[in-house]
Amino acid sequence: MPHALPSRFVRILVIGGGGREHAIVLALSHDPSVTALACAPGNAGTAALAETYGVDVAKPDEVAGLATKWQADLVVFGPETPLVAGASDAVRAAGIPCFGPSKDAARIEGSKAFAKDVMLAAGVPTAHSEVVDNPAKLDAALTHFGPTWVVKDDGLAAGKGVLVTGDFDAARVHALKLLDGGHPVLLESFLDGPEASLFCLVDGTTVVPLLPAQDFKRVGDGDAGPNTGGMGAYAPLPWAPDDLVETVVRTIVQPTVDELARRGTPFSGLLYAGLALTSSGPQVIEFNCRFGDPETQAVLALLHTPLASLFNAVARGELAEQPPLEWESGAAVTVVVAAEGYPGRPRVDDVIQGGDVQGVLHSGTRRREDGAVLSAGGRVLSVVATGADLATAREEAYRRVEGVHLPGSHYRTDIALRAVQGEISLPTA
Ligand code: AMP
Ligand code: GLY
Repeated sequence: MPHALPSRFVRILVIGGGGREHAIVLALSHDPSVTALACAPGNAGTAALAETYGVDVAKPDEVAGLATKWQADLVVFGPETPLVAGASDAVRAAGIPCFGPSKDAARIEGSKAFAKDVMLAAGVPTAHSEVVDNPAKLDAALTHFGPTWVVKDDGLAAGKGVLVTGDFDAARVHALKLLDGGHPVLLESFLDGPEASLFCLVDGTTVVPLLPAQDFKRVGDGDAGPNTGGMGAYAPLPWAPDDLVETVVRTIVQPTVDELARRGTPFSGLLYAGLALTSSGPQVIEFNCRFGDPETQAVLALLHTPLASLFNAVARGELAEQPPLEWESGAAVTVVVAAEGYPGRPRVDDVIQGGDVQGVLHSGTRRREDGAVLSAGGRVLSVVATGADLATAREEAYRRVEGVHLPGSHYRTDIALRAVQGEISLPTA
């Protein structure tokens, strides 16, 4: 099948409408091999760079219909929702290549129990876990864990269905709430150590890692408050051991990719390993079947290799023949500006000022008919800066944040701070 593909994907349709998709569209817009770009449903930021189409990303037929009508040469999937729903299968069935895994391979994110099963079979280090699907079995199961409990929804919750707590009763209440809603619960042993995100391009067999990044999941400074989709990120990781990426690919990503291929569901797209760097080495917190948001905004800001050539190689199964990736030296920092209320119900429809300056990527935004840019989601803007080192990138990112105005908004003031201050270290065995 790869021989039937065009030598270049000139018309690229990006599915999604967040900061990650704005970063992807921006990188593709710099690639001279791309002659036409569309983004669906997009946002006010992507609309400045790409044609915009409305689409329900959860409906595979709609996505495939748009790709066919627009005569896309390649469809790039940002979020997990369409992938888990099978949109890439529908697009491939329409004869159009995709960057994004099949529905079967996307289960690595869509079902935490499936991911655990694959990891177990592949010998990949991860937290010990137990699935509870019956409230009568909950209390006994909870006693197998602690003193810190990790309670997860075995389904998609964009990081928001997870509770990490030292309080037995709080863990119990959260698990009962999930069970009440008909969701099986996954209990996990607590993984200590700093977290890292490693994105890998995967074409079914070959793995090409991007720069490692760190995400800030909690809403408040000092990791206070509830989990969010991610409030900021930086890349690369100045505190990480030199062999981190090589170790993660060898012990985690490649065995997982090999196991998925062995099961007849090869993974093609972006495999995101969410890691805890524990005293006994890197362990998997979760896999995602797509680029992470907001880490992508930082990682792609440093990527020098044309992005379309990489998507092209993944779709063709030709990653092994690619020259090594080229990166800008230095570091990148992303700070998310979120709407009042986020990660709860966000306040929307406020006018944003300063949303069109350099380094400001749009997440939940839309353009009103009079041209004003309005907030339209929880995470509203991702403000990105690069610099010769992390401290410089961080300073510039926050200088840019000062230039944007959104009533009621909030952002973390400590993105990348501990890394700049040299305060992150790996736990020792
Ligand atoms: P997840 O949705 O699985 O990515 O979990 C969201 C966040 O909860 C992670 O980024 C971690 O900060 C935390 N977390 C999840 N699982 C664990 C674990 N087993 N040990 C420690 N922290 C965890
Ligand atoms: N940054 C976390 C995620 O994309 O899932």
